[in-house]
Amino acid sequence: MPHKVRVLDVSARDGLQNEPQLVSAAVKIELVQKLAAVGLQEIEVTSYVSPKWIPQMADNHEVMSGLRRDKNVKYSVLVPNMKGFEAAILDRPDEIVVFGAASEAFSQKNINCSIAHSVERFEPVVQAALAAGISVRGAMSCTVGCPYEGDVSPKQVGYLAGLLKQIGVQRVDVADTIGVGTPLKVQRAIEATLEHFATDDISGHFHDTYGQALANTLASMELGIWNFQSSVAGLGGCPYAKGATGNVASEDLIFMLHGMGFDTGVDLDALVDVGVYISEKLGRPTNSRVAKAILNK
Ligand code: HMG
Ligand code: MG
Repeated sequence: MPHKVRVLDVSARDGLQNEPQLVSAAVKIELVQKLAAVGLQEIEVTSYVSPKWIPQMADNHEVMSGLRRDKNVKYSVLVPNMKGFEAAILDRPDEIVVFGAASEAFSQKNINCSIAHSVERFEPVVQAALAAGISVRGAMSCTVGCPYEGDVSPKQVGYLAGLLKQIGVQRVDVADTIGVGTPLKVQRAIEATLEHFATDDISGHFHDTYGQALANTLASMELGIWNFQSSVAGLGGCPYAKGATGNVASEDLIFMLHGMGFDTGVDLDALVDVGVYISEKLGRPTNSRVAKAILNK
């Protein structure tokens, strides 16, 4: 078991990229600021992707430039290519995230190119970010299952992790995009990643479609992993992973970690209020079971 944990909230990006209704930049800014205020030290804010592909993130500049930044918080953004990087750099994110997939079919559907080609596109982005003093994370989608190919082998995960390491990516997310992972499968994906990245440099990013995300978190912790990503109110999903639901709810993850005696630095009751805020804006109830339990007490 690790000695500490850290939670990165991805609701403003993963959560809102899949919403059929457009959420205003003002609401996104408020959401990110509220997440920082309750003690989250890492927040994924937006993506610099094609607005034709993901119209929900077209307001990336407005959101990033409108934030009152907290110097203790690391603000990250997704960047798929140099065009995205050139736009992102103007807003000075603390970290950029290149995003690839362990499955060829998902790579094609999500970013319109093969795995090998995606890494060629990422390489100048990584170099430019590092030269500008911006850290670089790599998201690895479909590390256990793919909506188009089915099971994904640990070998495929190791292949992508190795390529990302070679181009200078500093840390990676082992993502279960469609939430089909179960603990032992997730451990195999993490072990394949551990051949290229240190325990400290691997995060778990688990969608909760099949209700396995907390079990997968615990299984990852057994391998020493201590960085996890989650989404307030359990928002999330990817438009190119049909049927996949949200990330594990930040409230549920924090409740489990606090119950295990970890100090996350997050005020859980205040976090529940942030979930209520965004759920009301979206006009639907929260997906967080912990939030429901606390609100119904
Ligand atoms: P493409 O069509 O192959 O790109 O898309 P292109 O280079 O041929 O350019 C086509 C058009 O897009 C051009 O505009 C470019 O200027 C524009 P046009 O001349 O037609 O007017 N363009 C851009 N515009 C703004 N920002 C950019 C950019 N790049 C090109 N950066 C591309 C390739 C990667 C751009 C596209 O496929 C794309 O934007 N994909 C984004 C997909 C996405 O955001 N998916 C969700 C995030 S990943 C995720 O959710 C998974 C994760 O949570 C982990 C997990 O759970 O698995 C991270
Ligand atoms: Mg995701």
